[in-house]
Amino acid sequence: MGNQTGLFVVLEGMDGSGKSTHLAYLQRLFETKGRSVRLTREPGGSEFAEVIRQQVLFAPMGPWTEMLAVAAARRDHLEKTIWPALARNEVVLCDRFSDSTWAYQVRGRGLPEAAALSLESWVLTDGRGPDAVFYFDLPPEVSFERRAARASASGETAVDRFEQEDLGFYGRVRQGYVEAAARRGSKSHWIDATQSIEKIQSKLQAMISNI
Ligand code: ADP
Ligand code: TYD
Repeated sequence: MGNQTGLFVVLEGMDGSGKSTHLAYLQRLFETKGRSVRLTREPGGSEFAEVIRQQVLFAPMGPWTEMLAVAAARRDHLEKTIWPALARNEVVLCDRFSDSTWAYQVRGRGLPEAAALSLESWVLTDGRGPDAVFYFDLPPEVSFERRAARASASGETAVDRFEQEDLGFYGRVRQGYVEAAARRGSKSHWIDATQSIEKIQSKLQAMISNI
């Protein structure tokens, strides 16, 4: 990581792909190595961004408002939470970041690529982005099954705006992640999320030792 302080790690993937499960595992791995870990998420992760999160998930809005809202939330999250944690040499483990915008708003909703790329570069204009991104890849059908199983186990009935989308939308989201991972080059770590949790965790352990 050269002379940079801290480490900024992002987990991406569809609902049910295992991000929360593996965030907790990665936290333990890093803490075992003696690192301080800051767990966070998008949209959200700062007071302002958590307010935006509620709106983006549940309030009716058009695709442009949605993309601009997640970008505004991201900037506040970086300023208030991520950049200060990196400056303290912490490991930031973030559930989703800007590749979700590419997958959901550009590929899912069909917004222009140039708009998302431009927003990302402005949001990151005076600070750094992720050092590593883990993509948990899952067929949309499996995502739907895991989401349903989790909902029935927890009794959770609230369905957000993204959970109302169909298999076609999530097929495009999946393709969007393939593109986002290609763009990040050596910072990308692609994981087949249909494998067992144990197998994925042993791969994560190996990947982490190379970051
Ligand atoms: P996300 O945070 O990406 O929505 P979760 O970590 O909450 O995903 O996982 C969703 C559900 O799927 C949970 O019930 C979890 O135990 C289960 N799960 C996660 N990874 C796997 C896996 N590799 N195989 C089977 N089930 C899994
Ligand atoms: P969340 O419940 O955190 O994720 P999950 O579905 O994995 O449990 O929901 C966040 C939602 O916000 C998710 O459906 C994807 C969406 N999202 C975007 O559309 N664009 C973005 O830039 C981000 C960060 C999230």
